Amino acid sequence: MEEKKLLIGGRREEARRYEELRSPYTGEVIAKVPAADKEETGKAVGAATEAKAAMAALPAHERAAVLERVAALLDGRSEEAARLVALEAAKPIKAARAEIGRTVQTYKFAAEEAKRIGGETIPLDAAPGGEDRLAYTVREPLGVIGAITPFNFPFNLVAHKVGPAIAAGNTVVLKPAEQTPLSALYIAELFAEAGLPPGALNVVPGPGEIAGAALVADERVAMITFTGSPEVGKSIRAGAGLKRVTLELGSNSALIVDKDVDLDAIVPRCATGAFSNQGQICISLQRIYVHEELYGSFVRKFAEAARKLKRGDPLDPQTDLSAMISARETERALSWIREAVDGGAKLAAGGGVSGGVLEPTVITEAGREMKVSCREAFAPIVVIDSVKSMDEAIDAVNDSDYGLQAGVYTSNLFTALRAAERLKVGGVMINDIPTFRVDHMPYGGVKESGIGREGVKYAVEEMTETKLVVINKRLG
Ligand code: SIN
Repeated sequence: MEEKKLLIGGRREEARRYEELRSPYTGEVIAKVPAADKEETGKAVGAATEAKAAMAALPAHERAAVLERVAALLDGRSEEAARLVALEAAKPIKAARAEIGRTVQTYKFAAEEAKRIGGETIPLDAAPGGEDRLAYTVREPLGVIGAITPFNFPFNLVAHKVGPAIAAGNTVVLKPAEQTPLSALYIAELFAEAGLPPGALNVVPGPGEIAGAALVADERVAMITFTGSPEVGKSIRAGAGLKRVTLELGSNSALIVDKDVDLDAIVPRCATGAFSNQGQICISLQRIYVHEELYGSFVRKFAEAARKLKRGDPLDPQTDLSAMISARETERALSWIREAVDGGAKLAAGGGVSGGVLEPTVITEAGREMKVSCREAFAPIVVIDSVKSMDEAIDAVNDSDYGLQAGVYTSNLFTALRAAERLKVGGVMINDIPTFRVDHMPYGGVKESGIGREGVKYAVEEMTETKLVVINKRLG
């Protein structure tokens, strides 16, 4: 069996402790992976600190060239990388292939952004006393970035942190999700092959409460960029002191369906938004508010689409849904479904587990206070509710602790504009599902969905510091 190593300062290093990594679908052990401790994480931060000056001095065209080479290398090995994702995350292979395609794009965007990190000139003479001065800003790298990434997009959400960090001339210590360290180690090898200076990217797979916490506490780390749960996000923010922090924390994303919409045109897309990657996506479609005139037909068509999805082996190209990331997560999702049904909600589809895979589950008549409605399900669970008006639907969407993205299907321009204005989220998708994302758009939330924005250009802004230079043109 393959035994992986820590990646520190450009070298593969033996760890003091290893864990067995199991496929979530078969339960088989697929690798032995390091479980970095505080000291090993500190050593990685030391290597990243040492590499800081070399990275900051690397010209933009060289940073861009490394990122372009990584994109090309990954593109050339995309099938191998997709199979790795299917194996360690149980992501169905067609979705895993799509993720690798997006990751290649993300690194290409990062290469482009590396070449356009600029500042501005400031007309200081707009204020009395500011005459005779030339002022401009430059953007400088922050230094060491601590990146803590989730299991659900083990390549692309790593790319959203490592790509912009390298584009901006930072160094990185990456702590990948414990369930998906192989993808992170794989991409780090490609960075080394692409010529990234040693120490610029270090990988310390390990437990969040040890390796992650050590990164957050380390004063040499200038910024933490994290994707994961609100609970962990809040503890990171509380422990980060004066570090910059970007948090992408998920949601119970909602969709509004107005009365003038062609259901046959939208239902397949809604099913994709709800059930892709077993619903384990921060912008997975979890709540749907349908105008009462279409409610009955929508529920029938949507439940039928859910039942048609093929469940099984993530490596089978026909599979739409496979196992969730762990048996514990499946049990947690089942308990939420049971709570809803015991409280009077109805199952329009699914609700059980077969072959280790949670069925795509469609729930109606769920109370707003039930976990399936008000918490982030991160599972293939959707609740559908009937609304009398678009204002009622907007209020229902906003009645959430989260606010990442929302979708609205309508043919009415005024409804679309009103929803765009009133929805309390980071992104409004008109005539699309909340799950829409391409990798250069600003991405992030309000409320418990987090702080800061990703999307390569926006992440570069978060990962750089503005420095002002003022030149007095006259002495005295
Ligand atoms: C996420 O789960 O936050 C990422 C969603 C995506 O990139 O499509």
